[in-house]
Amino acid sequence: MTLRDPNIETMGTSGEGAAQPTAQLTFDGKTFELPVIEGSEGERAVDISRLRGESGLITFDPGFANTGACRSAITFIDGEKGILRYRGYPIEELAKRSTFLEVSWLLLYGELPTSEQLENLKQEVTVHTMLHEDYRRLFDFMPKSAHPMPVSAAAVAALSTFYREADTEDRIHRAIVRLLAKMPTIAACAYKHSIGQPTMYPRNDLDYCSNFLHMMYGTPCEEYEVDPVIAKAIDLLLILHADHEQNCSTSTVRLVGSSQANLYATIASGISALWGPLHGGANQKVIEMLERIAVEEGSADVFLRKAKDKNNVTRLMGFGHRVYKSYDPRAAILKDTCKEILARMGGSNRLLEIAMRLEEVALSDEYFVERKLYPNVDFYSGVIYQAIGIPVNMFTVMFTLGRLPGWIAQWLEMRNDPAFRIGRPRQVYTGHEQRSYPTDRG
Ligand code: SDX
Repeated sequence: MTLRDPNIETMGTSGEGAAQPTAQLTFDGKTFELPVIEGSEGERAVDISRLRGESGLITFDPGFANTGACRSAITFIDGEKGILRYRGYPIEELAKRSTFLEVSWLLLYGELPTSEQLENLKQEVTVHTMLHEDYRRLFDFMPKSAHPMPVSAAAVAALSTFYREADTEDRIHRAIVRLLAKMPTIAACAYKHSIGQPTMYPRNDLDYCSNFLHMMYGTPCEEYEVDPVIAKAIDLLLILHADHEQNCSTSTVRLVGSSQANLYATIASGISALWGPLHGGANQKVIEMLERIAVEEGSADVFLRKAKDKNNVTRLMGFGHRVYKSYDPRAAILKDTCKEILARMGGSNRLLEIAMRLEEVALSDEYFVERKLYPNVDFYSGVIYQAIGIPVNMFTVMFTLGRLPGWIAQWLEMRNDPAFRIGRPRQVYTGHEQRSYPTDRG
C-alpha cells in the first residue's frame, strides 16, 4: 500500500471508500498515484481513466495486449494455467454435462437455467427458426461463389431491416431469441445457396443441432437422417466456442455496440471480425494446411521449418494464442473428441495423424517452446468438422454459431454497465506537422 504523499497527485479512485491500492507514475518531475483495481480471481489493473486529464499522458499498447477494456463477470481465462470458465463453471464440466442452449442461457443471464427456463428457451427458439419469405430471397442475390462468412454477416445485418430496434427489455429479449434461433437457418441457407440446392425450412420437432443438420443436408427429395453422434458433437463444438472474454470479435462487438448501433448490425460486425485467418478463420486455414502437408507428402518437420522462418509467411495455423501460454483447454477436449468421433465413424483420419505429429514435433521444438506456442481451439476443430461432413468453407460459420451467445452476453453486460460509455481510443500522431496548401497548384 503506497503511503499518501501530499506532493503526489491522487487520481480518482474506483474503490468505494476502501483503502485503494495504488501504483505511482513519475514523469516530468511529478508523481501521480494511480488507483489499482482487483478482479475476483486476483487479476489487478492500473486504472488510467483519469491519466490524460491529470498528467497529459496516454498509454500506448498496440493490439491491446496489456489493456483491460472493461470489467466482466462472464468468462474467466487463466492463460498460464490453461483455465477457461463460463460464469465460474469449468469448460471441462460444461463440455461433459451441459448443452449449448443451457450454456447460452448461463452466459446471457449468469446462472444455469431452471428446467422451466430452459424448456421455455427451447420453445421460443424453435418457433423463431423460420425466416421471413422476403428475407429468405436475400440469399438469391448473393454470388454462389461467395464465402458463407460475408453472406452470414450481410444476412445478420439485414435482420435490422426487418425487425424493430432492440430498445426495450422485451424487444431485446425478442432480438436475442431471434438471433439464436435464426443463425442456424441463416448458416444453412448460405451453404445451400452456395451449392445450388434449395434452402430447407426448419422443423419444430428437432432439437437445435439436429435441426441445423436437417437444414444443411436434407433436400425436398430426401429427408436427412440425423446421426445423434454427429448432433452431439456439434453441440459440444458450439459449447466450446461460446465465449472467450475480450477476443478480437467480442471486442469488436463491444466497440460497435458502444455507439448504440442496432444489435443485429453489432453482431454482424463480430462475424466480420471473426472471419480473419488470425482469429476464427484459422480453423479453415488449419485444414488447408494439413491437406497441403498430406498432398505434398511433406513431413511435419519440413513444414515446421517454414513456419519458424521469419522470411516465410507460413505459420503453424491453429497454434499460438494471445492469452494461452499453455495448452488451450478447448484444444485438449477437441483432441480427445476427434479420436472418439473418428473411432465411432470408422477408421483413422490422415489429417488427424498429421495434426498430432505436428503437435508432437512442435511441442518439443525450442522455437515453439520458448514462445509458449501451443495448439489453440482451431487446431483440432477442423478435423472434427471435416469428419462429420461440414464443408471446409463453413468451418468459421460454425464458430459463429457457437460464439453468438457470447457476443450477445458481452453486449448485454456492456449495455448494463454503469460505467458504459462509447469506445474511443486515442493515438500517438506521427504524421506531418502543419503545412500550407501550395499556392501554385493548378
Ligand atoms: C482464436 O483471442 C482469443 O481468445 C481468440 C480465440 C477465441 O476463442 O476467440 O481463442 C480464437 O482466434 C484462436 C487463434 C487462431 N489463430 C491462429 O491459430 C493463427 C496462428 N496463430 C498466430 O497468428 C498467433 O499465435 C495469434 C494471432 C493467435 C496470436 O498472435 P500474437 O499474440 O500477436 O502473437 P505474435 O504474432 O506476436 O507471436 C509471438 C511470436 C512471434 O515470433 P517473434 O516475433 O517473437 O520471433 O510467436 C510467433 C510470432 O512469429 N508465432 C508463430 C505462431 N504464432 C505466433 N510462429 C509460427 N506459427 C504460429 N502459429
